[in-house]
Amino acid sequence: MKKPALFLDRDGTLIEEKGYLHWPEEVEFLPGVFQALKKIRDRYLFFIVTHQPGLSSGQLKPDEVEKINNFIKDRLAQEGIIIEKIYVCPHLREENCECIKPKPYFLLQAAKEFSLDLLNSYVIGDHPVDVELARNAGASGIYVLTGHGTKHLHELAHYFPVAANLEEAVDLILKENEALIKASKIIRQGGVVAFPTETVYGLGADAFNPLAVARVFEIKARPYFDPLIVHIASRQDLEKLAEGISEKARKLAEKFWPGPLTLVLPKKKEVPEIVTSGLPSVAIRMPRHNLTLRLIHKAETPIVGPSANPFGYLSPTTAQHVKEQLGSKVDFILDGGPCEVGVESTILSFLEDVPRLLRPGGVALEEIENLIGPVNLSPSSKLKPEAPGMLPRHYAPRTPTCLDWSEKDFWRWKNQGKRIGLLSFRGEMASLPFDQIEILSPKGDLRQAAASLFASLYRLDKSSLDLILVEKMPEIGLGRAIMDRLRRASWRRKNKNNQNSFPNLP
Ligand code: TXA
Ligand code: MG
Repeated sequence: MKKPALFLDRDGTLIEEKGYLHWPEEVEFLPGVFQALKKIRDRYLFFIVTHQPGLSSGQLKPDEVEKINNFIKDRLAQEGIIIEKIYVCPHLREENCECIKPKPYFLLQAAKEFSLDLLNSYVIGDHPVDVELARNAGASGIYVLTGHGTKHLHELAHYFPVAANLEEAVDLILKENEALIKASKIIRQGGVVAFPTETVYGLGADAFNPLAVARVFEIKARPYFDPLIVHIASRQDLEKLAEGISEKARKLAEKFWPGPLTLVLPKKKEVPEIVTSGLPSVAIRMPRHNLTLRLIHKAETPIVGPSANPFGYLSPTTAQHVKEQLGSKVDFILDGGPCEVGVESTILSFLEDVPRLLRPGGVALEEIENLIGPVNLSPSSKLKPEAPGMLPRHYAPRTPTCLDWSEKDFWRWKNQGKRIGLLSFRGEMASLPFDQIEILSPKGDLRQAAASLFASLYRLDKSSLDLILVEKMPEIGLGRAIMDRLRRASWRRKNKNNQNSFPNLP
């Protein structure tokens, strides 16, 4: 059996951050560290990963670092806490060393040497690099605010969990494990669990249990003619669900899984009809979120998962969104923090000679075409039913939302006394007197914009506005998926003269 591990950063996580240490006397363990590690020593192997660039710059000698590391190891051993191995990265960050990226050498090395289960392992550290390293290795990262944690917090990607200190990080791990056990049990017993993914939260059930799947449709109030995506946790699972898998599809899975790409492929007969709405094809993806992957492993079955929102409404990108929209209807909500990508997966169909784009999403079309050549962008007339994400109105807030407007329109509505909100890309129109403003990415970063899209629309929708005006964004990369969602969220112009009209404006 492979064992999970904790990789602990040294300075700022285990011991007081004091710059370069030369003598063991300078080592000061942070409060609560022994207690915290004792709580989980039976479940995890412990490693220390420490960054000592002073070795490169000549400010530290190798034997100084070794002495201190040994001191720490011995002191922990006195408490009954065993450190299997200590890894030292001696490089300056500018050197872009292999210890960290692209292959986090230490973690992969340790995984091999100690036969580790990286998916269930964690890195805990007070620098963004510590937790990014975890992700690059397929493990999870928890950021702590001790040491340099507070100083570097602004550099941390929005989806990493943050704990006050090592104790809190350990409690988080224990809580996560408990939640996973509960969630997987519910799935196995035919229940419905809302689960996180890197795109949006999904509404999960055992893909091979038709009754459980039926409940997903019921909870979402989703029409039965709309097939579901099946989530898997390893590429091998693909063979259980699909057949006649083309080379191009395999190539994409190899490159983008785990990740926000869904492949529509000829289905195996074992896949229940209710999952695919009677279609001869099945939509499959392997999500890039460790909690989801661990859930699927633990439940020992692929999990269907439409977005966890009432049909047609905004997709949820936090556990809180799910709670507010579906709370009492689901058996459990697995909280995995805010979603990384924020728009749904890209869906590609492989039922014809040329692959067809059914929905733009988290993997940019450009990247796909780079790998497999041209993709057909026109909607298929044969494909019935259409993806509901392809319905003209979908992903929509309840407040009338408008994409085609000018400053003149704004003033007309304003003078009518309307309460108006703005969803802006970089804040171009934010100087107008809107009643509420959401700016997706002041820096103009489309990834950041996608990640905040649904949460921003959600906040606007809850602000008792009469209408939401939306600024257009460039349709490149993730901008294509964002604009696709915004078009479906907004009301069409009705009259031919191209004047703005709001048939349903309150
Ligand atoms: O990012 C995502 O894909 C999220 C997360 C939870 O994984 N899921 C998601 O699921 O967006 P959903 O159900 O909201 O959208 C799935 C889309 C639907 O538009 C559905 O019609 C389409 O996939 N789909 C599923 N199976 C299909 C099939 N066999 N042929 C064509 N379209 C299919
Ligand atoms: Mg540190």
